[in-house]
Amino acid sequence: MRIAIIGGTGHIGSFLTPRLFDAGHTVICISRGLKTPYHQHPAWQAVERVVIDRDVEEAAGNFGERVAKLDAEAVVDLTCYRVESAQQIITALHGRIGHFLHCGTIWVHGPGIEVPTTESEPRTAFGDYGIRKAAIEAYLLGVPGLPVTILHPGHLVGPGWAPINPAGNFDLEVFSRLAQGMPIQLPNIGMETVHHVHADDVAQCFVRAIESRSAALGQSFHVVSPAALTLRGYAERVAAWFEKPARLEFLPWDEWRKTVNERNAAVTWDHIAHSPNCSIAKARARLGYEPRYSSLEAVRESLNWLISQGRVQAD
Ligand SMILES: NC(=O)c1ccc[n+]([C@@H]2O[C@H](COP(=O)([O-])OP(=O)(O)OC[C@H]3O[C@@H](n4cnc5c(N)ncnc54)[C@H](OP(=O)(O)O)[C@@H]3O)[C@@H](O)[C@H]2O)c1
Repeated sequence: MRIAIIGGTGHIGSFLTPRLFDAGHTVICISRGLKTPYHQHPAWQAVERVVIDRDVEEAAGNFGERVAKLDAEAVVDLTCYRVESAQQIITALHGRIGHFLHCGTIWVHGPGIEVPTTESEPRTAFGDYGIRKAAIEAYLLGVPGLPVTILHPGHLVGPGWAPINPAGNFDLEVFSRLAQGMPIQLPNIGMETVHHVHADDVAQCFVRAIESRSAALGQSFHVVSPAALTLRGYAERVAAWFEKPARLEFLPWDEWRKTVNERNAAVTWDHIAHSPNCSIAKARARLGYEPRYSSLEAVRESLNWLISQGRVQAD
């Protein structure tokens, strides 16, 4: 198949572009050409690279038409954050492609009720990003006759960038302290959750959705690891990797937030207020999605990379 990926060099695209190439598809990778893929692969020399700045072309009203002219049978949209962007591309592509795949987020869900949360739960997103992504999902699923599939990834993990840490933010010092057996502080009683996914597992799920088109059409799927992590459990496992005891201290939220900077407090709050715990039963049953990585395996790989780069100090 001829498949265009919008944003094919980022966290997900770095795995998706090579996977589709290896599967024998013709891949067209759309980006501004600024970002270098996270790992080397023969695909990067072979795939068609199309340089387009979506923001600029959208503002001029041309983006949808430029993608349509690429004549792809399937389009994977990894860079859509506003319903107006979705409307523009769908107006141009509807009737001209066989499959449109949008990358959403598990943050289309608000706080869980029955967990693991399934795709059929009513959308209760809060926060600007989740609300916008939920609006895009509702729009796409409401366009009559649109051959669309939506995948909702969890917190992306992979070698090349920092994963969400056991305090629910991106401060690498948390990993260093756990690795060295030093105390860390966690909000509340550490029972709130995070739900990671390896970016390669997200790529796997996109490939399966493309190749199981009829089972995927008109559907949304969570794409996360098999199980979410509690913050305290996550911290304990990280310390154990380095044969150190996890020295965890717990503080009520209002006290904990004063122990970190404003940015980290906001990121942690966003994660613990969502406390995602999502089901992948639907993707398993319909698409044959089977994650290669548990959350901990994915984080371990990323942490090894961070240590090799000197960004996390293990001793
Ligand atoms: N990060 C997470 O933890 C997370 C979790 C759940 C869902 N998601 C979803 O995952 C998707 C993002 O995927 P990702 O994390 O793989 O993306 P990413 O790493 O941020 O990569 C973005 C890709 O889009 C390209 N790009 C950025 N701005 C562009 C523009 N104006 N015009 C054309 N191309 C542009 C980038 O290349 P250039 O810079 O070279 O243009 C790159 O290829 C989003 O839909 C997001 O909502 C992310």
